[in-house]
Amino acid sequence: MKILITGSNGMLGHDLANALEGHELILTTSKTLDITDKDHTIEFICDAEPDIVINSAAYTDVDGCEENHDLAYAVNGEGVRNLAMACREIDCPFVHISTDYVFDGSATEPIAEDGEIGPISIYGKSKLQGEEAIQEILDKYFIIRTAWLYGLNGKNFPKTMLELAESHSEITVVYDEVGTPTYTPDLAYGISELIETDRYGIYHLTNSGSCSWCEFARYIFEVAGKDVNVIPVTASEFARPAPRPSYSVLDNRNWVENGFEPLRDYKEAIKEYIELIK
Ligand SMILES: NC(=O)c1ccc[n+]([C@@H]2O[C@H](COP(=O)([O-])OP(=O)(O)OC[C@H]3O[C@@H](n4cnc5c(N)ncnc54)[C@H](OP(=O)(O)O)[C@@H]3O)[C@@H](O)[C@H]2O)c1
Repeated sequence: MKILITGSNGMLGHDLANALEGHELILTTSKTLDITDKDHTIEFICDAEPDIVINSAAYTDVDGCEENHDLAYAVNGEGVRNLAMACREIDCPFVHISTDYVFDGSATEPIAEDGEIGPISIYGKSKLQGEEAIQEILDKYFIIRTAWLYGLNGKNFPKTMLELAESHSEITVVYDEVGTPTYTPDLAYGISELIETDRYGIYHLTNSGSCSWCEFARYIFEVAGKDVNVIPVTASEFARPAPRPSYSVLDNRNWVENGFEPLRDYKEAIKEYIELIK
C-alpha cells in the first residue's frame, strides 16, 4: 500500500513509520505538509495519490492549547478537516488519532466508543472538532482514541520521571487521574493491523490495564531500580493550566469485537521501554 503519514517526526509518527516500513511510505512533517494550509494539503494529497492517509500530526501541548486557542483549533480541528477533504477528493480511507481527553472524566468504569463525549480542555475540544469534521465528510475513516502515550522519540511521562530520578529522592505525582499508559510501538502495530481491513469506525485503542499517574510513577521506579519516594498529590494541588479528566480509561470494545487481539498490559510494555532506554 502507498501510505501517507502526517506528523511523521512526532512520537507516534516515528513508530508508525517503523511499523509500516514494508509499505511505500510518504512521510510528511509540518515543514513539507502543514495541514493548516488547506489548498496545499488538498493539492499535495491529490498529487501523491496514497491508498490511505494516517494523521499523527496534532498540536499536542495540552497546557499550551489553553493559551493558544486559535492554533489548537487550526491544527486539531481545521487541519483535520483539510485532510478529510483531501481524502474525499481521491476517495481514500483516513486514519486519525484522537484522545481520551474528549471525555470529561466523570465515568467510573472503562469508557466505550459510544460513551458520552464532553471535553473539558481546549485541547480536548479541538480534537473533538477534528473527529466531527471527519464524520461529516467521510464514510471510510478510522478514528482511534488513545491515551497517555510514551515512546522512544518524544517527551513523555516515563522519560521525565527517570530524568527527575537522577536528581531527586522525592517526587510529587498526581494520584486522582486514572488512565492507561500506552506505548507508541504497540499502538502503531495495532494501527498497522487495522488498516489491512475495511472495518471503519471509531476505536478506543490503548495498552491493557489502568493506573493513576502516581501508581505509574511508582511502577517505573520499581522496574528501573530507582529509590525514589513518590508523594501522592491531587490534581488541584498540582495546578496546571488545562484541566484533565480524572478518569479516562478507554474500553477497547470495538477493537476486540472486531476480532483484534487486545494490546498487552501497560506493565509489560513499560518494562520493555525501560529496558530499551537504560
Ligand atoms: N501524547 C499523548 O499522550 C497523546 C494521548 C492521546 C492522543 N494523542 C494523539 O496522538 C497523536 C500523536 O501524538 P504524539 O504525542 O506522537 O504527538 P507529537 O510527538 O507532539 O507529534 C505531533 C506532530 O505533529 C506535527 N504538527 C504540528 N502541527 C502541524 C501542522 N500544522 N502540520 C503538520 N504537522 C504538524 C509536529 O510536527 P513538527 O515536529 O514537524 O513540527 C509533530 O511532529 C496526536 O493526534 C495526539 O493528539 C497523544
